Amino acid sequence: MTLPGSPFFAFKDQDLYLDDVRLRDLTQQYGTPLYVYSRKAMLAALAPYQQALAGRQHLVCFAVKSNSNIAVLQTFAQAGCGFDIVSGGELARVLAAGGDASKVVFSGVGKTRAEMRLALDAGVRCFNVESTAELEVLSQVASEMGKTARVSLRVNPDVDAGTHPYISTGLKGNKFGVAHEQAINTYQRAASLPGIEVTGIDCHIGSQITEIAPYLDALDRVLDLVEAIEGAGIPIHHLDLGGGLGITYTDETPPGADELIKQLLAKIDARGHGHRELVFEPGRSLVGNAGVLLTEVMFLKPGEKKNFCIVDAAMNDLMRPALYEAYMGIVNTRQREDAPEVWDVVGPVCESGDWLGRDRSLAVQPGDVLAVLSAGAYGMTMASNYNTRGRAAELMVDGNQVWLIRERESVDALFALEKLIKN
Ligand code: LLP
Repeated sequence: MTLPGSPFFAFKDQDLYLDDVRLRDLTQQYGTPLYVYSRKAMLAALAPYQQALAGRQHLVCFAVKSNSNIAVLQTFAQAGCGFDIVSGGELARVLAAGGDASKVVFSGVGKTRAEMRLALDAGVRCFNVESTAELEVLSQVASEMGKTARVSLRVNPDVDAGTHPYISTGLKGNKFGVAHEQAINTYQRAASLPGIEVTGIDCHIGSQITEIAPYLDALDRVLDLVEAIEGAGIPIHHLDLGGGLGITYTDETPPGADELIKQLLAKIDARGHGHRELVFEPGRSLVGNAGVLLTEVMFLKPGEKKNFCIVDAAMNDLMRPALYEAYMGIVNTRQREDAPEVWDVVGPVCESGDWLGRDRSLAVQPGDVLAVLSAGAYGMTMASNYNTRGRAAELMVDGNQVWLIRERESVDALFALEKLIKN
């Protein structure tokens, strides 16, 4: 039996395996909570993007914010990917992982001058600029350095991606991008500024999108703009259509990347834009289903209204349920014969919001190891040290090979930068 979204995680007899590795065995060696990623699953998720874009000038830029472990970045760099970054820190990670700065696009509404300098020094491919104010500062910084910043403006196409309000970004009320109506003026301003070279146009309408229609709507609006901008004498080289493709957490049925791209290309060609370079910025769809979070059951606490299954992973390890009420699948890594009962799977943190799953039917006993599924994206990258809990260790698996790609954080490290006051 394989698990939702990934054929690489499967039960053999009663035990959950990733490739040739029994997950429960990993926790004996490395402890819990433990993030485990499948290199094969990551590369398999990338393949349909690359295949659908073969023969076109294109770049798949992995969105670093979804999983920034340098071994994960290394995996995508070696597979030919570029990267979508949103901070100087992410740029440093990409470079440490052997990524190529000339394949990096720099997104985000609030880039600092220092980050702009770092990115210009490294020679990033493009800044995805989100406001006129940012454009002016970038022009100043680049001019001072005697450099030229290649830019594309992130335009807000005002389409509803039909996703959670916190992760929907393409509507007028969002803080993201330049409003559709102001785009041409902003492009004209960009073209007139020293130290700035307009190279493309960019949009990103949200995350965990499970339909193709919002992408096609956004594309139409972007192409309208491209035609108007070029009509105003400013050439546009590339189209960056962002990321956002959803994955299966439970019963979602998102389109494959190949189908999405096929339909986008059909529209691009039909409207006469087939010569343009295409950039995508996928995060979740490349790593989400490639990871699990393993956690040990500490105590069972049956109650009158609710049964609580208390595990050693918490909201600080995996924020998505607490923050978005997100559903993440949870299975026992060793299937039990006993009849399942209904549990709220909760962590040890002192907040009622600290839950990983509610009303889950599980046959479970203390000492069992549960796997929280589809935890490869926005899991570890959003982890915190709340309650002075060190962050989990991370492993990468391929076949029978296991690599420790991040050690468990020690308690000493948690307050090493703090200082006592000298009275
Ligand atoms: N490009 C830009 C400009 C973005 O803002 C994002 C994600 C991506 C690409 C990648 O999107 P993806 O392909 O991963 O959907 N923490 C939330 C998701 C936040 C997404 C933010 N932006 C979650 O756990 O659901």
